[in-house]
Amino acid sequence: MTTGYEFINGADLIDRARVHAWLSEQAYWAKGRTREKQDAAIDGSRNYGIRDRATGEQVAYARVVTDGATFAWLCDVFVAPAVRGAGVGKMLVEGVIADLEPLGLRRMLLATADAHGLYERYGFTRPDAGVDYLVKTMS
Ligand SMILES: CC(C)(COP(=O)(O)OP(=O)(O)OC[C@H]1O[C@@H](n2cnc3c(N)ncnc32)[C@H](O)[C@@H]1OP(=O)(O)O)[C@@H](O)C(=O)NCCC(=O)NCCS
Repeated sequence: MTTGYEFINGADLIDRARVHAWLSEQAYWAKGRTREKQDAAIDGSRNYGIRDRATGEQVAYARVVTDGATFAWLCDVFVAPAVRGAGVGKMLVEGVIADLEPLGLRRMLLATADAHGLYERYGFTRPDAGVDYLVKTMS
């Protein structure tokens, strides 16, 4: 089902205006994020997407913040509403994991309100019993 799509890797391939519109208008965790803030986040991250081979249009985005050695944070995962349910999200997460694998990281984290099922298939679990991840909201 995803043969018409290709995985893209690298900030230079990302449609920044599109990503900003998706996240700032539709993502519950990034509503109202400015273009300047989003661009800064892209510049400081490893950036990935899925592109429609026929039109060249980007249909999904994700980024990873990592030290490149021990730890990574997967965030801003977004699939365009028109193409959801067709395997694009899975293709994206698989591509991200494959790109990070050679780094030999110890842990990858993410936060999600409702897409646990997508990530569980790739080995994401809740923290071990007795371990909490604490969050400080700073702005
Ligand atoms: C969540 C999201 C990335 C999934 O993308 P998608 O392209 O629709 O997903 P896929 O078609 O590749 O399939 C996802 C798989 O995970 C499962 N899944 C579990 N929870 C899900 C959820 N909340 N949304 C979508 N799929 C979910 C699906 O059932 C599917 O499994 P299946 O193939 O066995 O049926 C997409 O719906 C999205 O961008 N949502 C809005 C933003 C968001 O919530 N991002 C995640 C925050 S971490």
